[in-house]
Amino acid sequence: MQLVRKLIVGNWKMNGTLPEAQSLIRQITADKPWPKNTDNPPLVVLCPSHPMIHPVAMMLDGYDWLTIGAQDCYTQDIGAFTGDVSAMILQSLGVKYCIVGHSERRRLHNETNQVIAQKILCCQKRQITPILCIGETIDERNKGATSAVLEQQLQESLNFEVTNVVSSLVVAYEPVWAIGTGKIPSKQEIIFAHQHIRKIIMQHHLYRRITPVILYGGSVKPDNAAEIVCGDGVDGLLVGGASLKASDFRNIIAACIQ
Ligand code: PGA
Repeated sequence: MQLVRKLIVGNWKMNGTLPEAQSLIRQITADKPWPKNTDNPPLVVLCPSHPMIHPVAMMLDGYDWLTIGAQDCYTQDIGAFTGDVSAMILQSLGVKYCIVGHSERRRLHNETNQVIAQKILCCQKRQITPILCIGETIDERNKGATSAVLEQQLQESLNFEVTNVVSSLVVAYEPVWAIGTGKIPSKQEIIFAHQHIRKIIMQHHLYRRITPVILYGGSVKPDNAAEIVCGDGVDGLLVGGASLKASDFRNIIAACIQ
């Protein structure tokens, strides 16, 4: 099902100081990034690093097209877990979305689908919409294993057997080989992956009553955003590098008005 309102997530990763973040937001919000008469502006989620969530959330307050997200959360709500941040804490800061299972966390922090499943449950318990990132590596793609990899990541990280709290879900299809490389799959490949992901989710009875939002991520730029986002079943974009440059990000947002 095609969503009317596109969702655009800006993943700042570990970039920018607080003054730089404030300046970026001032530029993004200088005026609306889209032409005047739009009935269905996209919803834009900004995901700064954890210490900047509160000040950034304060700056976004009052905008109906901007909201605050986080880049990760821990698998527990509370306790002796030095350096970690729980979904419960994020909720108290007003966080509405949380990226979970980004390929950088899978690779650099050894996050498994089972750990990711716990994080998704924590988010759902706290009314935070998880943005589950899945995608194949270049080796898996070359072996023709993309569909199987996506299916396994979904089955294991959505914890299909035990989940009983399901509110809302965003899945971001992010081929690992496309992240930060300037390379992207063909439009047909993106559409096929989105259809495949939607089919797997909708086959599960726990998820049948929610409408999953499915995004594409990986080297989204102003010059490819419109083409990607108009693909059948593509509900929006997850943007890394290009979300750090106000003019690029504004152009990507504008490209999502169709
Ligand atoms: P990129 O990153 O847009 O810089 O490729 C996307 C991501 O890592 O989510």
